[in-house]
Amino acid sequence: MTTIEQLDTPSVMIDLDVLDRNLRKTAELASKAGVKLRPHTKTHKSVWIAKEQIRYGACGITVAKLGEAEVMAEGGIEDILIAFPIVGASKLDRLERLMSLARITVSTDNVEVAKGLSDMGVRAGFRVPLYVDINTGLGRCGGEPGAETVELVKRMADLPGVHIRGIMTHAGHAYGKTGRDDILAVARNEAESLVLTSAMLGDAGIPIEEVSVGSTPTSKFIGELGVAGVTEMRPGAYVFGDISQYAIGLIEASDFAMKVKATVVSMPRAGTIIVDAGSKTITTDVNAHRKGYGMVVGHESAIVERLSEEHGNILVPDNAEFRIGDAVYIVPNHCCTVTNLHDRLVGVRDGMVEKWIQVDGRGKVQ
Ligand SMILES: Cc1ncc(COP(=O)(O)O)c(C=O)c1O
Repeated sequence: MTTIEQLDTPSVMIDLDVLDRNLRKTAELASKAGVKLRPHTKTHKSVWIAKEQIRYGACGITVAKLGEAEVMAEGGIEDILIAFPIVGASKLDRLERLMSLARITVSTDNVEVAKGLSDMGVRAGFRVPLYVDINTGLGRCGGEPGAETVELVKRMADLPGVHIRGIMTHAGHAYGKTGRDDILAVARNEAESLVLTSAMLGDAGIPIEEVSVGSTPTSKFIGELGVAGVTEMRPGAYVFGDISQYAIGLIEASDFAMKVKATVVSMPRAGTIIVDAGSKTITTDVNAHRKGYGMVVGHESAIVERLSEEHGNILVPDNAEFRIGDAVYIVPNHCCTVTNLHDRLVGVRDGMVEKWIQVDGRGKVQ
C-alpha cells in the first residue's frame, strides 16, 4: 500500500471520506426538498463517481458534451441530460446512435437547433426529449423567462420530432456573489422565474414535466426557498469543493475533497518557493474573490502567485518554513478544469492511497 507521503507529485488527490460526505449531504438536501438530483458530471468525468451519485439517489446525470454522454452511457449510466445544444450532421448521427443506448435529453434555446433535432427524430422514428434553456442572469444561452420563452417554446412544440420535456437554467453568476443573502436571492430568482414560465407554458397548452435549476451555489438553498414547482437540481462542483465555493462562504475547509500534492523544487529568493505544479496541473483559472491560483493548505497567507506550465511560484511569508523536497497541498480555484487535465485522480483515505479514479470523460470535448 502507498501512503500519501510516498505519492509522487504532482498528484490530484481526492479524499474519499470527504467525497462520500459531499455526495451524501447533497443527495439528502435534494431528497428533503422533494426535488430530483441530476448532478453535472463535468466536475469528475468519472463513471465510478457518477455511479456513486446514483447510488446515493441521483435520478440520472447531466453532461456538457456528446462525447461525455457516450462515455457515461457506455459505462452503464441510463439517464443522461446533455445540457448543451447539439448542432451539425455528424453530432446528430452520433446522438441518434446514443439514443438507442440510454435515455437521453438534450437542451437548446434555439428553434433552428430544435429543427435539426426534430429532423433527426423524424428520420429515426422517435421524438427527441428537449429541455429549453432559459437565461436567469448568467447571460450565456437562453432567452428571457416568461413571455419570450413561451413564444419560443410554442414554435419548438410544433416540430414533429421533438418532445418538450422541460425547462432549465444555469445560475452560474451566483459565483460572482458573496454571502448567504446574495446567493439566496439568485437562487430565488432562478427558481421563481422558471416556475412562472412553466405555469405560463401550461396555460398555453404545453405541459412541462421538468423544471431544472441549480448550480452548486444555488442548489445549497433548495430546501429553504419554499418555491413549489421545481422538480430537479443539477449541481456539479459540490463533489470536490474548491476555492470558488470557499471564497463565497459556501463551504468550509473540511469540505475540500480535492487537493493537489506538489513538491518544493526550488527556493530561489527570500519569500518565494517553486513547486512542481503549474498551469498544466492546477490550471490558470482565477477567482474573483481571492488572489492567486489556489490555496496552500496550512499556509493560508501564501499566494500561488504565478504559474508557468510546470512551475508554480508561491509567495510565502517565511521561506524558513519550507525545505527542498517538502510536500505542499494546494486546493485549486476550480476543481472541474483541474480534473480535465489528468488521466486519473488518486483516491485517498486515512493517509493511504486506496483507489485510482479514471477520468473517463477526459478530453471528450466533441
Ligand atoms: C448547464 C449546467 N448545469 C449545471 C452546472 C453545474 O454547476 P456548478 O458548476 O456550479 O456545479 C453547470 C456548470 O457549468 C452547467 O453549465
